[in-house]
Amino acid sequence: MKHLQIAIDGPAGAGKSTVARQVAGRLGLSYVDTGAMYRAIAWKALRENLDVHDEEAITQLAEQLTFSLHPQGIIVNGLLLKEEIRTQEISALASAIAKMPGVRRILVNKQQEIAARQSVVMDGRDIGTHVLPEADVKVFLTASIEERAFRRYKELKAKGIDVNLDQLREEIKHRDENDRTRKYAPLEQAKDAVLIDTTDLSIEDIVESIMQLCRHKM
Ligand code: C5P
Repeated sequence: MKHLQIAIDGPAGAGKSTVARQVAGRLGLSYVDTGAMYRAIAWKALRENLDVHDEEAITQLAEQLTFSLHPQGIIVNGLLLKEEIRTQEISALASAIAKMPGVRRILVNKQQEIAARQSVVMDGRDIGTHVLPEADVKVFLTASIEERAFRRYKELKAKGIDVNLDQLREEIKHRDENDRTRKYAPLEQAKDAVLIDTTDLSIEDIVESIMQLCRHKM
């Protein structure tokens, strides 16, 4: 089969990971959750009592970490990380760390190496613009802020995590703002990406639309 690269970008809560995982499953490709890599650095920095605003220390940490794919999470230096990197604290720290150019350069390299070894569906914020600019299919998923906050709320509730919807909406808005306005590789739609507003779409509808885009490339 042809070596395929499918890039899925968009803001928090737009449905990227659920959709990317399903598309990867249907096409038999590897799914790469790049957000988990930024989250893993934040988690590790906390564990090692590093100052998360110390750019040099965080960049060094990023360099030392090795990442490998796992269906239930991400393996970082041999350790499988799952729910521990999904907390609101880690979300906010990951977004702050993601502003650091050195960290981004290291992760983009690692992500490109993964995609060179295998066909991938990769999701994140800068995949179509920076990581895989030559991707075969590029999709930018969005949804209204209300819908995105509500989706996260339901997701966390289902895991037994108690959250306040208003607080979650503000947290997502803040993270969006951080991601869209950072100087280096901000969140934006690649010029050749297909925009899908998922506000009123089911997961199956979104997956089917992306599958149609992929079928043209296979
Ligand atoms: O996708 P997820 O919400 O897990 O990502 C966590 C944070 O990591 C995002 O808010 C963003 O700041 C950062 N990120 C990024 N570039 C990516 C993936 C994630 O800046 N490709």
